[in-house]
Amino acid sequence: MGASKIEKKAVEILKKVVNLEEDEILNLLEEPPDPKLGDLAFPCFELAKKLKKNPNEIAKEIVDKTEIPKDSIFSEVKVIGPYVNFFFDKGKLAKYVIEKIKKEKEKFGSGEKKKEKVMIEHSQPNTHKAFHVGHLRNVCLGDSLVRIMKFYGYDVISANYINDTGQHVARCLWCYLKFHKGEEPETRKGEWLGKLYAEATKKLEENPEYKKEVDEIQQKLESKDPKIMELWKKTREWSLEEFRRIYKQLNVDFDVWFYDHELIDNSKKIVEELVKKGIAEESEGAIVVKEEKTGLPTVIIQKSDGTIPYITKDLELAKIKFEKYKIDKSIYVVAAPQTLHFKQLFKILELYGFEQAKKCYHLSYELVMLKTGKMSSREGSVVLYRELFETAKKKIIKEIEKRHELSDEEIDSLAEKIALGALKYAMLKRENNKVIIFDWDEVLSIEGESGPYLQYSLVRAKKILEKAGTEPNFDKLNLLVEEDEFNLIKKMNEFPEIVKKASENYKPHLTAKYAFELSTLFSKFYETCPVIQAEKSIKEARLSLVWTFIQVMRNCLKLLGIDEVDMM
Ligand code: ARG
Repeated sequence: MGASKIEKKAVEILKKVVNLEEDEILNLLEEPPDPKLGDLAFPCFELAKKLKKNPNEIAKEIVDKTEIPKDSIFSEVKVIGPYVNFFFDKGKLAKYVIEKIKKEKEKFGSGEKKKEKVMIEHSQPNTHKAFHVGHLRNVCLGDSLVRIMKFYGYDVISANYINDTGQHVARCLWCYLKFHKGEEPETRKGEWLGKLYAEATKKLEENPEYKKEVDEIQQKLESKDPKIMELWKKTREWSLEEFRRIYKQLNVDFDVWFYDHELIDNSKKIVEELVKKGIAEESEGAIVVKEEKTGLPTVIIQKSDGTIPYITKDLELAKIKFEKYKIDKSIYVVAAPQTLHFKQLFKILELYGFEQAKKCYHLSYELVMLKTGKMSSREGSVVLYRELFETAKKKIIKEIEKRHELSDEEIDSLAEKIALGALKYAMLKRENNKVIIFDWDEVLSIEGESGPYLQYSLVRAKKILEKAGTEPNFDKLNLLVEEDEFNLIKKMNEFPEIVKKASENYKPHLTAKYAFELSTLFSKFYETCPVIQAEKSIKEARLSLVWTFIQVMRNCLKLLGIDEVDMM
């Protein structure tokens, strides 16, 4: 839908008096920092360089020559220093924006269909380990990006990659066999495995001689010893069951699931090919890709005992993504400590000869810290996703019970939606490369920058429509000229641009931030512009504004994966 950008209307006016291509003008247009200066500005520096003239003079000349057509969406054009500034005709802008949203509805903000196929790999928990808040940040970021890029028009495949082999599995199974043999909890079996893993790590630190026993298990896993494979299969399924339950609760879908145990055999072939191509070589019994080849630290792709490390499986995985799924862009949502790993991976893929290597992107993200500090599943001091969710839900139930009389099921379902909204928003509002300090007061606040605040503003808007007693009327939109109406309308008009930016830069937080700004402007409008009490024609026009706000907010919440509710 995006193409009918409002800036084009300024371009049409400017192109008559400025000797530049339409696209050049479009790219130069910007929003003035202070709305008092205008709604859209054309800076004259570029032209000044070209014409070797003073930009202020050029701006003045342009304005002198410019004529605003009668039916234009702009009411005025002014010189401000080296800028030509346009001012919207408020009533006409209201009509333009609201009619557009009314027409496009749930498509408002979406982009035209694109040819490229994109794979977004995210979440990627390890079996036999805990699903903690770091994973929550990952899945929120990944799922939102999937939604945003689909909405922007890409053909998107969402993928999960489960590491179900390796040291962590060996440790967990060792601990099980040595200290917990025959035990099996009734519920939350996956979570229990995570605890065993943490216990194993602690025990190994205390008694380094245990390492031999763990290595034995590791070898048995590699050689597919039937007994240990049986245990592996059973316990692996416990973890997967838990992951599936979490994704269902979070309403996250994956189109494809990759498992690293499926990659091992072909990974060995890749090692051979890399050696043949002269990219990899032997070194002290191992196979490595040396620094000279990549400009990055030397990396082992086959250990001296013949086992295949993490990066080599990633080479095979990337190959499958390119060849079987024929993707043009490959995005990996993975925590920041793996930055070097992905640099090395993409570089080796490039040397290998994959064109698509240039279109691989590591969307890295920082830690989530509770006020108590860092968490890691090796130290066992992790905050589980489940614990976080349950705490949120309990706190919310208390609040709901203060305000409403509902059945247990109603409370439960409402609290779950609000809890998920709160957690997802908390994970999305910070830019991915910044640490999140998780603070309950902030996360659950109905007034701050939070999920509940967004849900609440939508509830309020829906209540206004319900109570109005009349339908919105879209024939008198030119009556919407109050400052707070204008600001809300301008903000709604920005939505397609936000989607574009969030998609092109892989930045879901832009959408989160936008949703908050939009809600804030709605609150301001609601405070200063009475709807239900207003005189009939104003009331009807304002109702149509409320109606469009609801639509834009819904579109935006969908991109964040946050559900709307009917009461708070
Ligand atoms: N499971 C891995 C971990 O916990 C992350 C996997 C990331 N994806 C990948 N293709 N390497 O560290």
